[in-house]
Amino acid sequence: MQEKIEQLLQEIENLTASAREEVEQLRLRYLSKKGVLSALFEEFRTIPNEEKRVVGQLLNELKTRAGQKLEELKASFEEGGEEDRSCLDLTRPTSQVRLGARHPLSIVRNQITGIFARLGYSVAEGPEIENDWYNFSALNFPAEHPAKDMQDTYFIQQNPDILLRTHTSSVQIREMERLQPPIRKIFPGRVFRNEAISARAHCIFHQVEGLYVDKDVSFADLKQSLYFFARELFGAQTRIRLRPSFFPFTEPSGEVDISCNICGGEGCTICKYTGWVEILGCGMVDPQVLANCHIDPETYTGFAFGMGIERITMLKYQIRDLRLFFENDVRFLKQFTGAI
Ligand code: PHE
Repeated sequence: MQEKIEQLLQEIENLTASAREEVEQLRLRYLSKKGVLSALFEEFRTIPNEEKRVVGQLLNELKTRAGQKLEELKASFEEGGEEDRSCLDLTRPTSQVRLGARHPLSIVRNQITGIFARLGYSVAEGPEIENDWYNFSALNFPAEHPAKDMQDTYFIQQNPDILLRTHTSSVQIREMERLQPPIRKIFPGRVFRNEAISARAHCIFHQVEGLYVDKDVSFADLKQSLYFFARELFGAQTRIRLRPSFFPFTEPSGEVDISCNICGGEGCTICKYTGWVEILGCGMVDPQVLANCHIDPETYTGFAFGMGIERITMLKYQIRDLRLFFENDVRFLKQFTGAI
């Protein structure tokens, strides 16, 4: 019987299977109740008692080994099988890794903050969910003022004091409440307005605003800073002009146009044949806004400006539909590969 066990052990060691179902058949043949091993255990009962110790041990070893071997065969199919492994070619080149591109809005935001960084501005950010004070009241928007209509937004129905910010001017207030002058900061971020979505407007867009408060800050400083900015972003040939405007939180207020960067001021469809395109709003910080933030308007003056990143990006890259920024179409996005 000992010989039989050894032969069987050899046989089991040499087992192979070319499919998972074959492993199951082998298991039935060797390990099931009617299998080869059960028969051996039957036979074991009949051998003389003095042989039982040695043979019993061998028989148990055989059973353990048969169980292991069948598990191994089964596992080889779960991992993809021996055949698959023989196909593994470690010298094959890997599939190409495709690098993405930065989103055009991020590229331009970085350019804008980079230019102002060189003028000594540091970046500050604030929450997108704001309350009425930071988005409106502290900025001199009276409760029922029509200027609020231009910045209609999304309110929380249960609590109209909480809203999605319509501009990053809210961060100006937060920073002025927190700090005393000199303050020289730039505020990039996402803003929200209740606007119908079209080629020129969206209910979500991005802004960069800036604020400079110190002793003796004048309108001439504002104008020169924005002139520097426009030339850095759009090229040294760029000219600017200021038109009077209104914002509740600046006095006087203005809007800045640049000479059209497409036609150079000659007149084209982008500038609607005027030679100028609007890029931002600005003005001297209203003394009441400084006082709202516990900054003494007798001692300090300041200027602020704000621009839409989508608008600047459209002008810079001649993009005609604002919705492209939000559609995640790779045919659009991959055109910005290589830009930083
Ligand atoms: N907050 C204004 C807007 O979103 C822009 C602005 C900022 C105007 C700072 C003047 C000064 O329209």
